[in-house]
Amino acid sequence: MKGTSVITWILIVCLSTVAVQSQYYSNTRPYDPMPEKVTNLHFFLHESLGGQNPTAVVLAQANITSNNSTVQFGILYAVDDPLQAGPEPNSEVIGNAQGLAVVAGINSTAAVTYFDFGFTTGELNGSSLSVFSRNPLIMAEREVSVVGGKGKFRMAKGFALINPYVLNATTIILEFNVTVVHY
Ligand SMILES: *[C@@H]1O[C@H](CO)[C@@H](O)[C@H](O)[C@H]1NC(C)=O
Ligand SMILES: *[C@@H]1O[C@H](CO)[C@@H](O)[C@H](O)[C@H]1NC(C)=O
Ligand SMILES: *[C@@H]1O[C@H](CO)[C@@H](O)[C@H](O)[C@H]1NC(C)=O
Ligand SMILES: *[C@@H]1O[C@H](CO)[C@@H](O)[C@H](O)[C@H]1NC(C)=O
Ligand SMILES: *[C@@H]1O[C@H](CO)[C@@H](O)[C@H](O)[C@H]1NC(C)=O
Ligand SMILES: *[C@@H]1O[C@H](CO)[C@@H](O)[C@H](O)[C@H]1NC(C)=O
Ligand SMILES: *[C@@H]1O[C@H](CO)[C@@H](O)[C@H](O)[C@H]1NC(C)=O
Repeated sequence: MKGTSVITWILIVCLSTVAVQSQYYSNTRPYDPMPEKVTNLHFFLHESLGGQNPTAVVLAQANITSNNSTVQFGILYAVDDPLQAGPEPNSEVIGNAQGLAVVAGINSTAAVTYFDFGFTTGELNGSSLSVFSRNPLIMAEREVSVVGGKGKFRMAKGFALINPYVLNATTIILEFNVTVVHY
């Protein structure tokens, strides 16, 4: 019957595919990159510390008894900060930054941050950037590195310049100018 022979063929094709797939890696071949593109982004990260709806919370803290430090060395934060088009609290939300920040400076207010900046509007909806860097928290001008990305930002690399817009005990608003090179 016609139906049976189709099923038989599907089985034969599947079985031969399984046989071929028992090698789990491809042959190594010359890398032929696609032409790269550059995208610039400009947005504001809003972080609330403490209060009713904190967007950064302490996960763990080292128990340092001989602590003379004025910085919070040894504290690990979980972060989910909205990314917004402007510095105003009610400006359009365009994504969020989720990740970890570890306060890693003994004598300086410096963190090492791993953030995934995910975008939720427009053409970039569903795309994200991996930002992994040392982050000197109180310097007026800072730079962090973009080490990868997803979606439109596959194979991304780049950097972000950060300008602290508001910086106090309860509110952090940072202006980001990101330059991303990607496929
Ligand atoms: C912190 O360390 C000190 C000294 O080792 C100890 O007495 C104290 O119980 C520790 N506190 C916590 C919360 O582990
Ligand atoms: C803490 O600071 C005081 C005064 O600056 C200093 O005398 C002391 O040695 C410091 N202790 C430690 C453990 O660093
Ligand atoms: C160390 O001391 C500083 C200043 O007193 C304080 O802000 C910080 O929370 C302390 N850190 C730890 C881990 O105890
Ligand atoms: C931090 O500062 C203290 C006192 O100035 C110094 O003894 C120590 O070596 C410094 N630690 C680091 C990691 O810079
Ligand atoms: C973004 O993508 C998600 C998942 O595909 C979808 O549910 C959502 O409506 C999109 N948002 C916008 C603003 O396009
Ligand atoms: C970001 O770019 C804007 C517009 O070019 C500029 O006004 C602003 O100073 C830049 N900020 C940073 C942190 O580079
Ligand atoms: C921090 O800045 C925000 C925004 O400018 C302001 O609403 C808030 O009152 C400030 N908080 C403190 C403790 O200064």
